[in-house]
Amino acid sequence: MEYVPGLQGIPATQSKISFLDGQQGILTYRGYPIVELAKHSTFEEAAWVLINGELPNAEQLACFDAELRANRRVKYNVRDIMKILPIDGHPMEALQTCVASLGMFYPGQERMTANGISADSEFVEQMIVKILASMATLVAMWEHIRRGDDPVQPRTDLTYAENFLYMMNEREPDPVESRIMDACLVLHAEHTINASTFAALVCGSTLAPPNLVVASAIGTLAGPLHGGANQRVLNMLDEIGSVEKVSDWLDQRLASKQVVWGFGHREYKVKDPRADILQGLLEDLRVHRKGYLSPLYDIACELERCAEQRLAPKGIYPNVDFYSGLLYEALGIPRDQFTPIFAISRTAGWLAHWKEQISHNRIFRPTQVYDGAPVRAYSPMAAR
Ligand code: COA
Repeated sequence: MEYVPGLQGIPATQSKISFLDGQQGILTYRGYPIVELAKHSTFEEAAWVLINGELPNAEQLACFDAELRANRRVKYNVRDIMKILPIDGHPMEALQTCVASLGMFYPGQERMTANGISADSEFVEQMIVKILASMATLVAMWEHIRRGDDPVQPRTDLTYAENFLYMMNEREPDPVESRIMDACLVLHAEHTINASTFAALVCGSTLAPPNLVVASAIGTLAGPLHGGANQRVLNMLDEIGSVEKVSDWLDQRLASKQVVWGFGHREYKVKDPRADILQGLLEDLRVHRKGYLSPLYDIACELERCAEQRLAPKGIYPNVDFYSGLLYEALGIPRDQFTPIFAISRTAGWLAHWKEQISHNRIFRPTQVYDGAPVRAYSPMAAR
């Protein structure tokens, strides 16, 4: 039995949800290329595709959209939970706490084993909608509560992306910015068996309730080697300071064996296709803002150029986290909320995998390669 660190190359499941080709830079959701979905789909449609397997017809999409809109409000007790959290705590922790609590406000855990073994499909569909709809509300609620303000109530006349920007910024969402946010949500919604999706699968395989499945995944996404990288990219660009300093900074960074945030991927050996699309959205935003974009974008482009010479031979290129933060910051979102936005979107993928897992469930119980002490005699305290 060979132990493979990081389970690299070991299949953890069999799935029909998404596919990626890391050599060619291809990502598909249910067979549909991400490039097409980012261009033509809304987040609501992408979530439907992931969860149900096919593109929805007009009636299916309208119905799903209406249910998401109707489920945007969360119980006011969740607001009370937020009010007692430290305001300088990380929003991912606030989000995980509140998502973990949702099952207490929307009970039904016993319906996970409705007929003794399998879950009640109505409960599965209801919880998917409830959790997905609540995610944006929870992220925006925390933003206001930590500032000492009342949260902005969700609106039902806006799309998922528009409503999120409205709740965050408390102003009518700009159509171009909303379209960009929508595309970001589509792009982050799913990515095969990454660490957080694996955590969701493991938790789901015990037939734990779906809010806890998502809470497990949120905790896993929070780390800087996974979703937490997007926040660090912007701090890193700040630290570099100017385009002229990029090359020297990179040399020192690599010489000291530190990672460059937003670069590298276990699966991709070329530039992440999502990074290309996000960069295109930044260019769209530049046009919309009449030529203005943060100077950090120029530093990012120079860093990508310099890194190409040093890191490309190892197959290390920008990943999804490299350009997303620049977009979010341009949309007025605080840096520590970048990863929670990732979580809002990835909830669609996590729940799609949860549904797939419980439809043919077997509990995860891997084995280990033991290399500890052999069986030995217990030594009494006086003899140690
Ligand atoms: N900057 C510099 N070097 C990097 C790097 C980065 N971002 N990512 C990987 N490398 C180097 C490693 O140092 C290692 O070099 P070595 O062979 O000389 O020791 C080699 O590339 C392989 O890296 P490894 O850490 O084994 O790859 P992994 O598949 O285990 O890790 C990540 C993948 C994503 C965790 C890793 O690329 C990383 O830490 N990236 C930065 C964090 C990030 O952006 N995460 C978001 C992912 S979407």
